[in-house]
Amino acid sequence: MRAAICEKLGSVAVTETASPVPGPGQVLVTVEAAGVNYVDALFVQGRYQIKPPLPFVPGSEVAGTLPSGERVLAMCGLGGFATEVAVPAASAVPIPDELDFPRAATFTQSYCTALFALRDRAALRPGESVLVLGAGGGVGLAAVQIAKAMGARVLAAASTDGKQQAARDAGADDAIGTADVKTAARAWSDGGVDVVYDPVGGALADPALRSLRERGRYVVIGFASGDIPSLPLNQVLLRNRAIVGVDWGAWAMANPEAQRALLDELLAMVAKGDLTPVPPRTAPLASVAEVLDDLLNRRVVGKVALLP
Ligand SMILES: NC(=O)c1ccc[n+]([C@@H]2O[C@H](COP(=O)([O-])OP(=O)(O)OC[C@H]3O[C@@H](n4cnc5c(N)ncnc54)[C@H](OP(=O)(O)O)[C@@H]3O)[C@@H](O)[C@H]2O)c1
Repeated sequence: MRAAICEKLGSVAVTETASPVPGPGQVLVTVEAAGVNYVDALFVQGRYQIKPPLPFVPGSEVAGTLPSGERVLAMCGLGGFATEVAVPAASAVPIPDELDFPRAATFTQSYCTALFALRDRAALRPGESVLVLGAGGGVGLAAVQIAKAMGARVLAAASTDGKQQAARDAGADDAIGTADVKTAARAWSDGGVDVVYDPVGGALADPALRSLRERGRYVVIGFASGDIPSLPLNQVLLRNRAIVGVDWGAWAMANPEAQRALLDELLAMVAKGDLTPVPPRTAPLASVAEVLDDLLNRRVVGKVALLP
């Protein structure tokens, strides 16, 4: 088979290698599309908390077919940037006809994170307002769509016109740049938003916290800016605000049945037409290094799926 192999941290290249042999309880997926996540780039850079021994094949999320011909998606941790990957049978989840392979390969992480964060952690209610930071990125765009599906009003913040437009196309009620988020969000929401969804961190965090209204919730998703912010706790005390952490990956591992229910619920929304995931940009597997570089340098709008 062909696979993108990381032999040395910081570099990845496509080459021929032996096909994986499924172990007990595993199935072989013929990969039709592999979703590219921020975490894949961190693995290749050696900047993720888990450091697999070299060489390894990155790629944590795929869609493809089983030997029976059934169309499935799967979270695989590593090994997805390849023409074949072995996954635990329980991880291979049938996909509805409405979801093509590129969308299916970029679905699980972004949409499960968004629903888990906004519903289970932030207890978002219909009619509330949400400020989504990094709204033109993978988890940001998914959060825009999930918040709208939950009946919320959404203000998207993103650095470029293209990302702001993508957020509007995904259903955001309005979009702003990243220059003065506090003033813009307070003006848009008549005094403050109910929820901030933050996958970016860094310098955006302080003004975003200050944009929350009474009993507002600040949802910590990630630090794509590379900077883990320190926030002034007096701003949490004021207005009875809360800061809420989200670790969807660890929760999903510890609660596989609840995670499967969450994913099934999202796939049912897709099948019913209540959720139409944003199509990712597609690129050949051979361009993996370029795509990871684009992701780390903010040049990706939405998601990218690699086609092996
Ligand atoms: N907590 C969880 O359970 C969970 C689950 C999934 C992902 N995450 C985390 O969420 C974060 C975002 O993931 P993602 O897939 O949405 O990534 P992404 O598609 O690359 O989007 C991240 C956004 O962050 C912004 N950004 C600001 N400074 C940046 C920088 N220096 N480098 C890259 N991006 C920068 C960019 O938006 P602008 O250009 O508009 O600023 C970019 O669109 C990651 O840290 C990921 O690990 C957490």
